[in-house]
Amino acid sequence: MTAEYKVNGSVAVITLNNPPVNGLGHATRSAIVQGIKQANEDGAVKAIVITGAGKAFSGGADIREFNTPKALAEPTLHTVINVVENSEKPVIAAIHSVCMGGGLELALGCHYRIAAPGAQIALPEVKLGILPGAGGTQRLPRVVGLELALNMIVSGNPVPSEKLAGTKLFSEIVKGDLAQDALEFAAKVADQRPLPKVRDLKVDYPNHEAFLQFSRNTVKAMAGPFPAPLKCIDAVEASVTKKFDDGLKYERELFIDLVQTPESKALRHAFFGERAASKIPDVPEDTPAREIKSVAVIGAGTMGGGISMNFLNAGIPVTILEMKQEALDKGMATIRKNYENSMKKGKLTQEKLDQRMGLLKGTLSYEDIGQADIVIEAVFEDMAVKEQVFKKLDEVMKPGAILASNTSTLDVNKIASFTKRPQDVIGTHFFSPANVMKLLEIVRGDKTAKDVLATVMKLSKKIKKTGVVSGVCDGFIGNRMIEQYSRQAGFLLEEGCLPEQVDKAVEKFGFAMGPFRMGDLAGNDVGWYIRKRRYVEKPNITYSKTADLLCEMGRFGQKTSAGWYDYKPGDRKPYPSQLVNDMIVKHSADLGVERRKISDQEIVERLVYALVNEGAHILEEGIAMRASDIDMVYLTGYGFPLFRGGPMFYADTVGLPNVLMAIEKYAKGRHGDAWKPAPLLAKLAAEGKGFNDK
Ligand code: 3HC
Ligand code: NAI
Repeated sequence: MTAEYKVNGSVAVITLNNPPVNGLGHATRSAIVQGIKQANEDGAVKAIVITGAGKAFSGGADIREFNTPKALAEPTLHTVINVVENSEKPVIAAIHSVCMGGGLELALGCHYRIAAPGAQIALPEVKLGILPGAGGTQRLPRVVGLELALNMIVSGNPVPSEKLAGTKLFSEIVKGDLAQDALEFAAKVADQRPLPKVRDLKVDYPNHEAFLQFSRNTVKAMAGPFPAPLKCIDAVEASVTKKFDDGLKYERELFIDLVQTPESKALRHAFFGERAASKIPDVPEDTPAREIKSVAVIGAGTMGGGISMNFLNAGIPVTILEMKQEALDKGMATIRKNYENSMKKGKLTQEKLDQRMGLLKGTLSYEDIGQADIVIEAVFEDMAVKEQVFKKLDEVMKPGAILASNTSTLDVNKIASFTKRPQDVIGTHFFSPANVMKLLEIVRGDKTAKDVLATVMKLSKKIKKTGVVSGVCDGFIGNRMIEQYSRQAGFLLEEGCLPEQVDKAVEKFGFAMGPFRMGDLAGNDVGWYIRKRRYVEKPNITYSKTADLLCEMGRFGQKTSAGWYDYKPGDRKPYPSQLVNDMIVKHSADLGVERRKISDQEIVERLVYALVNEGAHILEEGIAMRASDIDMVYLTGYGFPLFRGGPMFYADTVGLPNVLMAIEKYAKGRHGDAWKPAPLLAKLAAEGKGFNDK
């Protein structure tokens, strides 16, 4: 049952009922048409109300049906809206909450609309790389005016219904019982003729050309590689310049073009990927979670401070523990300074700043943190230090407290073994700057209890992170993959590239930052420290020595005003460094490698396919639960271009046989040992499948 039909006196009520958000899939569309027909044929019915069951009026077209035959099967949304608009009896949309995309377009096809206050009204299609394709760009300007409609369509942001009171969108904003009011409203308008149709209204905007040109200039600067925002303006323009039916046709053409674009497919992948990441097959959503009312953080360094801010922002009290007063004072002062900077930028009020700082306490004593519901350790990346901290936590924390580690590479199972309660231990890997980056890798140890995992997943939502579960391995999902990417970047330097060429090629591909600029930002010493450990633990792995030579020169990056690039004090702009470039060329000569010209295509392939191949291993080993989880890690934590959908999705769009062919070619080159194709990649390529195929 996807829409219920009931007659209440002289009013027929069609209730959309297609959980979770009453998406207008094929079955629902058919049920609406059927309901309108039945109501028109029933002599006792004088008016029709369309409303939604559950948490939405309608979230719009069913995105899951896009690019499937169901999307085009009759009745299409266009047909449904036509049937509604041409109904001989008045149709009233009664909107109690979410009314978005095709849901709003359906409402705009009704003769009247009434809404409860707080209902979320939006045409969010642009966020999925498309535009409203069922009349939204033609009808919304006719009821709310050109400017407001353009803003809503280009931003995709929801507007609460009460803010739209007074426009022709709503006949009434209902304060009381919407269902009852809808029946009364229907009775009131039952005999009124002619029936009002939005299509009959005109968009009146003197000098619309100048306004639209201004909008185009503004939007062009913000749209980046995404075609949809500018196409939205083209479509809205048609509401002023074309007859209604011509405008509708034009909108349809633009919609069909956009829905096929790789950018839109990538955005839809990310939309579902984000939601899929929160689902853990053996930990159902109703798993009882532990209550988190207070947090302790160990270590007030780079990560500890940022981690604390997440909880303060969410209104949860935090106590930070440090070894020395000086380090504690410095960490607390950095947090305050970050908030003050936000205040200077107008993003935070003094009152909010005081509120947040009021929730923060510092201590040097473990006695002060024993009652915290969760403790997050962010001390040095050294197993011996982690051991000391976790043994102490085991002694002092109350029973049932969650013991989390922010380690970026170390074995969470080993960390858990330092306690007598490994079931309470979990990895929470934040990304720097931890108060800004969306990603939280949640590392599930062998013994982590299900309710601990459920609690941390829930907590990640509360602090507005994208939580992605990873199994235990060196580097987890993200850093294990980036290691292969960085290795390739190093080899490219030995073979003929300079840092600037690599960075430019990767940034042109769409990464926020190339590997060398990123290294300078994060600190080249971090990788150096990890490599030194690896030289001992995994002597068979080869690395380019250039990064070590750089660190031996003391060039750790922006923090030393010198890294792969030169920096002027107080300026983050990188300048190519003659000294470093000479070092790179000399190193090639020392190795006896003849430097060659390397194309941007080779640079991008080697870096991105290194990610993909390692991602395939990670997927096969079950470290990641699904390919889209890997994509979410890269989209939200590593600046992978959103319009390419993440490394695994990108590989699918290139075609896995093509990726495999390139990898096999590189396997025959220098450092071919880095290019053993992952068995899963080879298998899927042979089967003609993609990583993200269901
Ligand atoms: N189609 C299919 N499924 C949808 C959907 C849609 N339009 N919108 C949301 N869902 C699903 C989600 O995938 C999720 O499913 P899951 O529980 O299986 O993971 C579930 O609904 C709940 O979604 P959220 O977790 O996002 O729930 P919230 O309550 O936080 O938000 C929402 C609800 C505001 C509707 C939000 O989901 C949203 O913004 N959805 C997208 C709406 C949208 O873009 N609509 C336009 C569709 S395109 C269109 O209409 C084309 C037309 O112009 C022709
Ligand atoms: P940091 O060196 O900036 O801070 C560590 C802090 O811990 C210092 O202030 C130090 O005084 C304190 N500390 C050390 N031993 C302690 C102890 N026994 N008790 C209390 N405090 C102690 O280090 P950073 O960068 O914040 O890293 C912390 C952890 O986070 C590491 O495990 C690291 O691998 C991880 N991480 C780091 C990221 C980064 O980009 N810096 C990103 C993600 C994770």
